[in-house]
Amino acid sequence: MSFYLTTAIDYVNSRPHLGTAYEKITADVIARYTRLTGVPTRFVMGNDEHSQNVFRKARELGLDPHAYCDQMELEFREVWAKLSISFDDFIRTTEPRHRAAVQRMAQACHDRGDVYEGHYEGWYCVSCEAFKQEKDLVDGSCPIHLTRPDWIREKNHFFRLSKYQQPLLDHYSARPEFIQPEIRRNEILRLVEGGLEDISISRAGQSWGIPLPFDPSSVVYVWFDALINYAAAVGYGTDQEQFGRWWPANLHIVGKDITRFHCVVWPAMLMSAGLPLPTSVFGHGWVHFKGQKMSKSVGSAIDPLDAADHLGADPLRLYLVKEIPYGGDGDFSWERFEERYNVDLANNLGNLVSRVTTMVEKYRGLSLPAAPLEPGRLRGVAEQAVRTYRDAMKRFALHEAAFAAFSIVDATNEFIAASEPWTLAKDPAKAETLTQALCDAAEALRIASVLLLPVMPTTAAEILRRAGEPNAAEAIAFDRDTAWKSTLARTLVKGPAIWPRLDGLKAAAPAAGVVTVSDPIVPPATPPDTTPEPAAPPTPSPQADGAPAVAPAVDARIGIDQFMNVELRVAKVLGAERVPKSKKLMQLRIDAGTEERTIVAGIAEAYEPDALVGRLIVIVANLKPAKLMGIESNGMVLASSSEGGKPILVSPGEGAEPGMRVR
Ligand code: MSP
Repeated sequence: MSFYLTTAIDYVNSRPHLGTAYEKITADVIARYTRLTGVPTRFVMGNDEHSQNVFRKARELGLDPHAYCDQMELEFREVWAKLSISFDDFIRTTEPRHRAAVQRMAQACHDRGDVYEGHYEGWYCVSCEAFKQEKDLVDGSCPIHLTRPDWIREKNHFFRLSKYQQPLLDHYSARPEFIQPEIRRNEILRLVEGGLEDISISRAGQSWGIPLPFDPSSVVYVWFDALINYAAAVGYGTDQEQFGRWWPANLHIVGKDITRFHCVVWPAMLMSAGLPLPTSVFGHGWVHFKGQKMSKSVGSAIDPLDAADHLGADPLRLYLVKEIPYGGDGDFSWERFEERYNVDLANNLGNLVSRVTTMVEKYRGLSLPAAPLEPGRLRGVAEQAVRTYRDAMKRFALHEAAFAAFSIVDATNEFIAASEPWTLAKDPAKAETLTQALCDAAEALRIASVLLLPVMPTTAAEILRRAGEPNAAEAIAFDRDTAWKSTLARTLVKGPAIWPRLDGLKAAAPAAGVVTVSDPIVPPATPPDTTPEPAAPPTPSPQADGAPAVAPAVDARIGIDQFMNVELRVAKVLGAERVPKSKKLMQLRIDAGTEERTIVAGIAEAYEPDALVGRLIVIVANLKPAKLMGIESNGMVLASSSEGGKPILVSPGEGAEPGMRVR
């Protein structure tokens, strides 16, 4: 048994945004889960480069399109690395292996008698890279991109999609799992039952694309080209042995806007070429921002690097997976992101990690023997959660799986409150009961972390380590390690708070990486450990939805002492240069009054390096150093910005000199 999983390949006319990143994150959760269950997994992503928009963008920048695509590949890879996306292969449609596959499949469809020559006249939306019918337009514009499509008239080669109407309907009925979720299946069924028209598969008079093998004066239409990446990536047309090992794909993850290409056009192409069809296509919903589909062309895009820098990649992954029912649409907002961070992570899971390790340290010197008594109710809770999780994953209900993992966290916090280890500790006769309670809590925490590994790979691995799991995260086996282990003797590990609370810190939108760059496991400035004293653990009481309540409302104001702890100083920029391979980061050499130092700031999109030299700025001078793109940054530059807007440096005003304190 093996599992071959793909995502849509992205157009590279702009950088990834949080909507496209959502798709990769959710697919990554599935890939990590299947690997965890021991199934050999191949997870493929890539870039879709033969789009007219890509060609235009390269030209606009005065670049050769290939050079432009090379540069964009680096930008995409940087984002995917930051978000811990664990793809096994990354395909680009300008690669020779892809070209070979496209030409082979086009020829196969042609040889089958499914391709004929004709003329196309009609609307074409370049952003969708799709031919549009009059009825698809709203006030003459594409309803997705809100732009007017082009009217084109040209010689095209057509694919006999209409011939596959009945075979497709037969396939949908024989294999109900082919289109998921249900809502997408119904949409596609209605569409195909309504009849299919043949589709154009070539564009005339264009140079950017793969020439048709039987008419090299035309290039393959970008969608016909792009879909073939899924077969090309596992060797179709170049490596028959590899192709035999991985094809057909088990799962294509795509957005709901392109489900019909994957559930109608793609299977018809495969039938025509005599190839087996993928098992399932899952059409996920859209991430909205302020009520609109997040999209670069509409100007509603959040940079995933900003979101990951703000609170960490794992909190972002959890937020997107748990907050948006998989298959439906969901909203991203900075406020909600912070709220979920506080509720799920700082106050709930993070608090639990601190409490368990603190108590085991205090009462048992961090080492627990095999459980001395019978396990309490947590064992049943964990076993039920594992069953629910497994079933949810099978249906790709990722949000339900995340909730199942958190049901163990909630129950463990409740268990600690009810069993009161701090009271047991006062009575020597209750020593075994106390050990048992600690073993139960540590074991429940361990199992919850195994379940969270696919969603939060870095921090769940850290929690596993702290909970005394003897195996490294990479060696975890789902069945073996989600079973309740009563006989495991373990040593727990104490550490700083994994997710410091955001009490009163109304950070809202980050200023493009200027003020919020942090690694939550090793924060630049070590935050106070928010672990409650074991003797009085104030577990927030759970809400009806199973999540704990937000920490009791705190007074968001801070005292003058707290403010004075932050050392703001005037500094002068002595030199500035962009950080290679980063769009946002600028390396500044500054005079801080008493010494020179280097600060890396996210202002490269807003300022030219030369314009910064000689300028007075305000810095946070007493911040612990942090490494950004391999460069040690000593301090932070202050800037203001509107939500999603560019940073504007704070100026100290007339008469200020480097080193002066700002207060
Ligand atoms: N290149 C085509 C796909 C070809 S696959 C053979 C394409 N590219 S895209 O860059 O526009 O989109 C890539 C993926 O991101 C698509 O699955 C698309 O649905 C998804 N998303 C784009 N915006 C999105 C949101 N706002 N929210 C969720 N997914 C989004 O289409």
